[in-house]
Amino acid sequence: MRPKPIVAIDGPAGAGKSTVARRVAQALGFLYVDTGAMYRAIAWQADELGLTPDDVEAIAAMARQSDVRLEEAPDGTQRVFINGVDVTDAIRAPRISNLVSPISAIPGVRARMVELQRQMGAPGGVVMEGRDIQTVVFPDAEVKIFLTASPAERARRRWRELQGRGVTADLAQIQRDIEERDTRDSQRDMSPLSKAADAIEVNTDGLTIEQVVERIIRIVRESLPADSSSG
Ligand code: DC
Repeated sequence: MRPKPIVAIDGPAGAGKSTVARRVAQALGFLYVDTGAMYRAIAWQADELGLTPDDVEAIAAMARQSDVRLEEAPDGTQRVFINGVDVTDAIRAPRISNLVSPISAIPGVRARMVELQRQMGAPGGVVMEGRDIQTVVFPDAEVKIFLTASPAERARRRWRELQGRGVTADLAQIQRDIEERDTRDSQRDMSPLSKAADAIEVNTDGLTIEQVVERIIRIVRESLPADSSSG
């Protein structure tokens, strides 16, 4: 058994995974791994090389050679590097958000990312967040959380976030996009978004971030063997 657990958090976009996973990791003193950022880094590199999602073979070959790293900056934020280049901000561009979905569906890309994720998580003491962590990357994770929220709630959150950045958007359209993306993500052949049979589902509708974080920390503590829960 690992000395410290692996906490696998999966769920659809907009459920609050990143914020929650980061805070749970901070509270427990665990490493935080944002696997979506890793797929985004691959999409960024493919785009830099002028490849499009149809260039399946070339992208798979590129991914096999790619070194994706997550490092904690002195201020506690996480930086994302691909082959030594800091792409933390670049991978959040709308262009990359559009490219990453088809690129993350390429089997060779997934194989390489899963390999790197297993290396990072193997020692334990990690909170890893994504779509396939509890089903594919670490089916033996000590703690499996499936974080959800209703499409209406996720659309409202996204709408508020855009509002905050001064972007006007149509709430109904956002909700339709979310529902479409859910269908696509859960029906793809390769590692579809799905909940492990032994996962604990946490629905975040109407809960604050603090309440969700507290609930997950409690679940992690309860999963620890009795003799280590005080340490
Ligand atoms: O969570 P995010 O939006 O940053 O994820 C970016 C993309 O990567 C998204 O299209 C889903 C995909 N992804 C994946 O297929 N598997 C993961 N473990 C994490 C993300």
